Amino acid sequence: MKMSIGLKKVNVGLIGCGQVAINRHLPILKSLDNVVVKAVSDINETSLRHAVRRFNIKDTYTDYRQMLSRDDIHAVGVLVPLELHARAGVDVLNARKHLLLEKPMCRTLQEAESLKNAADEAGVKVMMGLNKRWHRLMLRARDVLSSRDLGKVRLINLVYSSGQDREHVPAWRKQRISGGGNLIENGVHCYDLWRFLLQEEISEIYAVSGHEGSDDEPAVVTARSESGVLLNTTLADFMPGRNEMEIFGERQVLSISQHRFEGFEFTPRGTCSGDLANRMKRSTRFLRELPAGISQYRYGGDYTESFRAMWIHFIQAIRTNSPVSCTLEDGQRALEITLAALSSADTGQPVRLSTSR
Ligand SMILES: NC(=O)c1ccc[n+]([C@@H]2O[C@H](COP(=O)([O-])OP(=O)(O)OC[C@H]3O[C@@H](n4cnc5c(N)ncnc54)[C@H](O)[C@@H]3O)[C@@H](O)[C@H]2O)c1
Repeated sequence: MKMSIGLKKVNVGLIGCGQVAINRHLPILKSLDNVVVKAVSDINETSLRHAVRRFNIKDTYTDYRQMLSRDDIHAVGVLVPLELHARAGVDVLNARKHLLLEKPMCRTLQEAESLKNAADEAGVKVMMGLNKRWHRLMLRARDVLSSRDLGKVRLINLVYSSGQDREHVPAWRKQRISGGGNLIENGVHCYDLWRFLLQEEISEIYAVSGHEGSDDEPAVVTARSESGVLLNTTLADFMPGRNEMEIFGERQVLSISQHRFEGFEFTPRGTCSGDLANRMKRSTRFLRELPAGISQYRYGGDYTESFRAMWIHFIQAIRTNSPVSCTLEDGQRALEITLAALSSADTGQPVRLSTSR
């Protein structure tokens, strides 16, 4: 790790050149001053050629282990299907490279253990790519919750649909067996946000799901935090895009719409969201935030920007030897909730989680 502290530029390699690499990670990495994407790897040569053409990357590998043997690569992003997360992650760590691991962490608690053991041995920076923690409005929400301005929080309701066309999503992402399906793929972001926002653990979970053309589509997950906050998440992957959150405190409700630049709104106690005063505030906020929203939109909007903020944080941690804010421990907690949700959806029973460590 010492070799990375104070580096002017961090050399990055990527394993996997699929959708998330091409649409999110590579555009962001290529725009960062203190990062050089030295090489990419993928078993699919067409994907490799596409990445090279679009992002002007010199070195490519169909076997990522060859890329990992290079001394000039400091950090590696693992952006492959879930069934390969643990194996590729452990290989990166054994090669003593800093690791950014896309969500979800892995498939089983045994795999989680192998990743944690390899990380302890390697002594490098390891971060989970749960990018929604870096969404501008989620960071604001966490500050609001920490300030206790909402009063005692009783309930969080989340509604998420990616809005993606089912035909354009890789087949593995639609089936549990290969690490896909709503409760795993999309659910994991939501479970992590519960923990991130409340800064506490989840104690109980109950899930129901359908199987409309892909696994756990749609799904509803209900949970309770250890202090008793009720949580609800509605997941409907292939229906029109929604990303809404309501945080009910005793003094105010905070409504967040992650797809809208001005989507951050308070409804004080004793009023309704449709009251004239609340509607006037909404219009004023829209006009006030429009210029910033337009310029943000040009660079891919808040969602793409969350990947930028995530990589900036990771690169900074490498260069200054500072702690990362989304650890393997966080990844494992989200995995435990995911496994409990899957079990609950299968058995029709609520599942209690152990919250103590
Ligand atoms: N954070 C987010 O919002 C977000 C969004 C989408 C996907 N993801 C995650 O990113 C990861 C990749 O998803 P995707 O949508 O890009 O999938 P994808 O199927 O589009 O891409 C995966 C790529 O990995 C390649 N690959 C498979 N085996 C490989 C190997 N042994 N070595 C090198 N490359 C290999 C495949 O050929 C493919 O190009 C998943 O973990 C997924 O959950 C995260």
